[in-house]
Amino acid sequence: MEVRAHAKLNLTLDVLGRRPDGYHDLRMVMQSVALADVLTLEESGDGELRVRTNLHFLPNNEKNLAAQAALRWWEARGQVPRGLEITIEKSVPVCAGMAGGSSDAAAVLRALNELEGAGLSPAQLARIGERVGSDVPYCVTGGTALAEGRGEVLTPLPPLPPCWVVLCKPEFSISTPALFAKIDSVKLRCRPDTQGVIAALEAQDLVGVARRMYNVFEDALPERQRSRVNDIKNVLIQCGALGASMSGTGPTAFGLFDSEALAREAQERLTGVGGEVFLTRTV
Ligand code: C5P
Repeated sequence: MEVRAHAKLNLTLDVLGRRPDGYHDLRMVMQSVALADVLTLEESGDGELRVRTNLHFLPNNEKNLAAQAALRWWEARGQVPRGLEITIEKSVPVCAGMAGGSSDAAAVLRALNELEGAGLSPAQLARIGERVGSDVPYCVTGGTALAEGRGEVLTPLPPLPPCWVVLCKPEFSISTPALFAKIDSVKLRCRPDTQGVIAALEAQDLVGVARRMYNVFEDALPERQRSRVNDIKNVLIQCGALGASMSGTGPTAFGLFDSEALAREAQERLTGVGGEVFLTRTV
């Protein structure tokens, strides 16, 4: 079975506080984009669970979130692990704040649900997925949604009006646990207007959403990295983006465009400056 695992972007990301369990309470508006990994699930003749990817540095064993999802699936179903080979054609940048690994895990859960004819609901798959990672529950269904709690409390939102997205992942990666640890001691300059974004989605006001996008983790980045993310955002805005922000714990920055021509211009300007640049659409 072949299945797609879409990347996500944060239209907003707010950290409300640290919890007794060490995680943080979040409030964020999530959006899927067409950019996706493609996973193929095949029975492995030798009874082993294996992951193969086109990126040599990704784990090919149980450290890979796709394999963890399969193990959690069998555990939740009360079955012994079966022989399975998961091949992942990665297109979504890794360690980029776009939930690439979580989306692969969610795709495995959706695929096993279908392959085994188990008929679990998206909410049931999300409960299995939250044990693999905080973004997995959202990735089970994707689309436009408000995510709260650790990320697993989901409320569907009206879809973002269709638009083009230019995104750029700079050449460095960010450690999510390290940035979460740092955010506790950072004085946040400003917070996203999450309610305003939700109201703009309800009014199907793309410009209203784009202008309100904000991610508190931008304030927690080390100076040099923050300045690189800001440079990307500035290029996007100069090229006509309706708004620009960083996704997740970064470092990917993206802009929303209502014009394909302007989006292509932004893509061209960012290409060659360094990092991975994509032009995609919201889904
Ligand atoms: O849930 P996941 O494994 O993706 O989270 C990775 C790390 O990010 C956690 O170990 C934790 O340090 C941090 N995190 C957090 N609060 C959240 C989600 C993640 O502190 N809501």
